[in-house]
Amino acid sequence: MPVAKVTDIAFGRLQSPDLDLAEEFLADFGMARAARTRDVLYMRGTDAAHHLHVTHRGEPKFLGFAFYASNEEELARLARVEGASPVESLDEPGGGKRVRLRDPHGFQIEAVYGIEKLALLPVRRNVVNTGPEKLRRAGELTRLPHGPAQVKRMGHGVIATSDLPKTLAWYRDTFGLLCSDDVWSGEPANLVSSFNRCDRGDDYVDHHVFFTMKGPKPGLNHFSYEVRDFDDVMMGHEHLKGKGKYKHMWGIGRHRLGSQIFDYWCDPWGRVHEHWTDSDVLNARAAPGLIEAGKGTYAQWGESMPARFQTYAVT
Ligand SMILES: [Fe+2]
Repeated sequence: MPVAKVTDIAFGRLQSPDLDLAEEFLADFGMARAARTRDVLYMRGTDAAHHLHVTHRGEPKFLGFAFYASNEEELARLARVEGASPVESLDEPGGGKRVRLRDPHGFQIEAVYGIEKLALLPVRRNVVNTGPEKLRRAGELTRLPHGPAQVKRMGHGVIATSDLPKTLAWYRDTFGLLCSDDVWSGEPANLVSSFNRCDRGDDYVDHHVFFTMKGPKPGLNHFSYEVRDFDDVMMGHEHLKGKGKYKHMWGIGRHRLGSQIFDYWCDPWGRVHEHWTDSDVLNARAAPGLIEAGKGTYAQWGESMPARFQTYAVT
């Protein structure tokens, strides 16, 4: 039995030397400020989570990410995992409680519970006349305002690991994650990456909340955020490209494993942030997949995963 069955990913934590620059990028990426203190920036999406991205002032560094625990008993159980902190009150906007854990590479992974929720932010209306329901927007014109994408929520976190079996076992055993798809190369026993989802029984969840890939250097590969729809992915792309100062990493395309339409951008310090929409959703009854790595493993259409991204890891 796993120690806990987390319900979702909550937020990522980074360290950056310039909070103004961090906020400017994240606003261009499609988030809004939830709170800012002298040394910490909290950004939110249009859903109710208090924040889904935290930036601490300091030298560029990947600080970790957080999952939502199901309840306080889970936090108490997680606090007994080797190397974990006791259950602590979160001394930051939104409050709540947490346990800090260390994954096999020493990255801080938090489990949080009871963080305050905020009122939803308005989302631009976008009704489409596609498929069998051709008259959804009968008589109404589409005129989309230009601007950033509308980030809804955090979707997943991705760790590059030099010891995939150990990393995978730790995340699954600690947080109750289920295998959606393992990817192998050469022979089935040689896993090169793994997509994992939350176990919420009969309830459907995103195909992956945690992805890990084998690489020479451990670190953060990317944080990923859900946006409203395909137009948002495209408008967000145009907005970030139009700024002329952000580095594009990969996309636009549609993933194979998870099926999301995706687009990847670097923040000013090279940390990769993904936009996606339209994920596969599975419940706990779905059988695990075992896929051979090859052309098209990571994209059904659009650009294949660039070589520079396959080993990308920041610490
Ligand atoms: Fe992703």
